[in-house]
Amino acid sequence: MDFPVADPIQEAIASVVSRRSYGYPWPREDGRSVATAFADRMGRKFGWEIDAQRVRVLTDVVQAVATCVHAFSDPRDGIVVQTPSYPPLLRVVDLLGRRLVANPLRDTGTRFELDIDGLRQAVSGTRMVLFCHPHNPTGRVFEAHELEALRDIVVEHDLIVVSDEIHADLVYPPRRHLPLALVDPELGARTVTLNSASKSFNLAGLRCGVAHFGSDALAERFDSCFPPELLGHVSNVSLEATIAAWDSSEKWLADALGVLGRNREMLVERIRRDLPGAVCHEPDATYLAWIDCRALELGAEPPAFFLDRARVALKGGTDFGDEARGFVRVNFANEPEVLDAILDRMAAAAGGDT
Ligand SMILES: Cc1ncc(COP(=O)(O)O)c(C=O)c1O
Repeated sequence: MDFPVADPIQEAIASVVSRRSYGYPWPREDGRSVATAFADRMGRKFGWEIDAQRVRVLTDVVQAVATCVHAFSDPRDGIVVQTPSYPPLLRVVDLLGRRLVANPLRDTGTRFELDIDGLRQAVSGTRMVLFCHPHNPTGRVFEAHELEALRDIVVEHDLIVVSDEIHADLVYPPRRHLPLALVDPELGARTVTLNSASKSFNLAGLRCGVAHFGSDALAERFDSCFPPELLGHVSNVSLEATIAAWDSSEKWLADALGVLGRNREMLVERIRRDLPGAVCHEPDATYLAWIDCRALELGAEPPAFFLDRARVALKGGTDFGDEARGFVRVNFANEPEVLDAILDRMAAAAGGDT
């Protein structure tokens, strides 16, 4: 994200720096913590009332995914992931010796949807669903009927869901994020929800994420596998920045979403106009656009093509799953002029104009 952070965040960090002391984090005098800031914010934003005692603070969301996979499944167990997928989720499953069971999203021609029939078949013999909601890279915000269908399958097959909701702040009206755990209590009790201020408030380098466990049993199991000595600790700079983001930076976020929403419109319009043949469904959320470049015939890996011919670095391709070959992912969290220049370069290169 190219936007300077919110003033309250900068001030919180400056206040830590001004003390010239970087000792271990100490409980704050006002009792505020990342866990209570998260719990209160979920209540304010989504009407999701959660107990801060069931929130654990970790160094990042990918660590949370990996530790949950380790805690709630065994080697060679099947783990279901909707593909295309943010690559670290796929890698974690592989690195921990679990079996990746891909359930590709269905492209309806206007958007990507959960393939519920595919999911029903995919879950057989698996222990867990790794869910990404809103979804990276497609930007889909799954709707209540999709989440309810997921709930039926998860409950019927006695599964645990790890729901990575790191993009939940970045949803464009009229769409609204519905936390998976809020869909229904039975599903909530088997859901671990992951979140962080890192994507929406531009804090990714500071390292802090949270995991909320939907039941005491899940939290206890996690704690027994990962005592603090194994997890490590988050720095006081990061804790203070995250609290400032969640308690005091909503105005900044609303402004950032305004810019991102306009960038999203410009990007989708320009892809349609200037990259004929490329297909981009307007993302409901995130600052990521998932673009199908297969008809452009740019070679096996379009990210390599755009890097080479346009000097534009994009992610995409088979790191996101087998069905992602021929796609690129554009990050549009930049100043409009920068995004314009990126699109000019991509269009010129794809049109053979370089
Ligand atoms: C879905 C998703 N999960 C996790 C992350 C990474 O979060 P962290 O840096 O906290 O591991 C990202 C970053 O892009 C993401 O898109």
